[in-house]
Amino acid sequence: MASHPTSTIDRDRLSQLLRTERDHFVELHPRSAALAAEGATHLIAGVPMPWMTRWPGAFPIHVAEASGSRFVDADGIEYVDFCLGDTGAMAGHSVRAVADAIAHQASIGLTTMLPSADAAWVGAELARRFRMPKWQLAMTATDANRFVLRLARHLTGRPKIAVMDWCYHGTVDETLAILADDRRRVVSRPGAIGPHVDPALTTRVVPFNDLDALERALDRGDVAAVLMEPALTNIGIVLPEAGYLDGVRQLTRTHGAWLVIDETHTICAGPGGCTAAWGLDPDAVVVGKPIGGGVPVAAYGVTDEIARRLVEPMSGHDSDVAGVGGTLSGSALALAAVRATLSTTLLEADFERMIPLAERWTAGVAAAIEGAGLDWTVQRLGCRAEYWFCPPPCDGAAAAAAVDDELDTLLHLWALNRGVLLTPFHNMALMSPAHTDADVDRHTDVFTSAVAALTAP
Ligand SMILES: Cc1ncc(COP(=O)(O)O)c(C=O)c1O
Repeated sequence: MASHPTSTIDRDRLSQLLRTERDHFVELHPRSAALAAEGATHLIAGVPMPWMTRWPGAFPIHVAEASGSRFVDADGIEYVDFCLGDTGAMAGHSVRAVADAIAHQASIGLTTMLPSADAAWVGAELARRFRMPKWQLAMTATDANRFVLRLARHLTGRPKIAVMDWCYHGTVDETLAILADDRRRVVSRPGAIGPHVDPALTTRVVPFNDLDALERALDRGDVAAVLMEPALTNIGIVLPEAGYLDGVRQLTRTHGAWLVIDETHTICAGPGGCTAAWGLDPDAVVVGKPIGGGVPVAAYGVTDEIARRLVEPMSGHDSDVAGVGGTLSGSALALAAVRATLSTTLLEADFERMIPLAERWTAGVAAAIEGAGLDWTVQRLGCRAEYWFCPPPCDGAAAAAAVDDELDTLLHLWALNRGVLLTPFHNMALMSPAHTDADVDRHTDVFTSAVAALTAP
């Protein structure tokens, strides 16, 4: 992604501060440095998963243990964690009930490829939360999205899908596409590795908050599904304008395309995500990451009408080779983890604590920005909040254009060196039920000191 330096910051001072913080990071983390060097011997790029190269600093810090809103690294330093495994640990690290349920399930069988006694409860709870009657389990939100797109193509008989410009829905080939600079052509997202076909063949891309563009994308009658987050969260938070989501629903209905709402991140809006909080009426809902309290599991739900039409293609002799499902999907472990998570946490009462924490975080950051006389802004969706080095963007391309890599790196590293972890991809913080006012105030202090260092006369 291209980086666009923010004009209001003295770039020389920024570079100087970055050098100092980089050196300080290395001094603080001798044990992580040694583990990183060891890992480099047999791990590609030195890490078990590519995203772990995204952290600021010369190497990723290695984690010793995590609990609630905190984790401790291999050098014994404790952090307040606002990344929460990029939402995988949104319930807080190692929730007691989840840890107990996993341990119990581990002692009585983790996977049999048969439903366990938790299956019905999980289906009912997902239906209650997301107001969608029929569900299936998957291992990851990527898989859940992939399966839903397949099902939509199967039932509509249409070949294409539509997504929002600069969206992210996992490693789903059709979704790793953006609009080119001419704002017309569909091209692979920068950095996408080995696309299997030109995404222009599979995908229409439309700017978020642009109903005219969506209508143009749908009016040829060949789009099976519009897959979208109700607010973009993966290029920073971009909120829907008034009436936009109603317009999307009307257009998808008029043109016979499924509306698939991916709540994997926007579950930050409440126990049933934006679908419940904003009264959305999609054809399918996808949710992943936090529902298993850290155990890999995701789910997708559809309407009764769609479920009825899916029974035949998803049952019987060829169901194992239909391209939907997976050996470990819906395992006893996953079901036990979802049951323990959703029965004890991420409940209405938890959001009543988490959302005010995000409001407090937002107010602290806004006050620091105002105090420093900067033109930066803060955005919030439920218990997730984020700052921008510009006014809040209205679509993904504007959000992508607002990225300032060097400034991002300094602010992340400054926070990390002072015991605060932010999500590495943008300037985002997520609250769990375990966070406290003191955790939030710690970030406010750290952010205020960073801004002061950047803007001191
Ligand atoms: C909205 C959304 N959907 C799907 C995914 C994919 O999740 P996973 O990486 O667990 O497959 C992500 C991951 O960041 C996401 O943000």
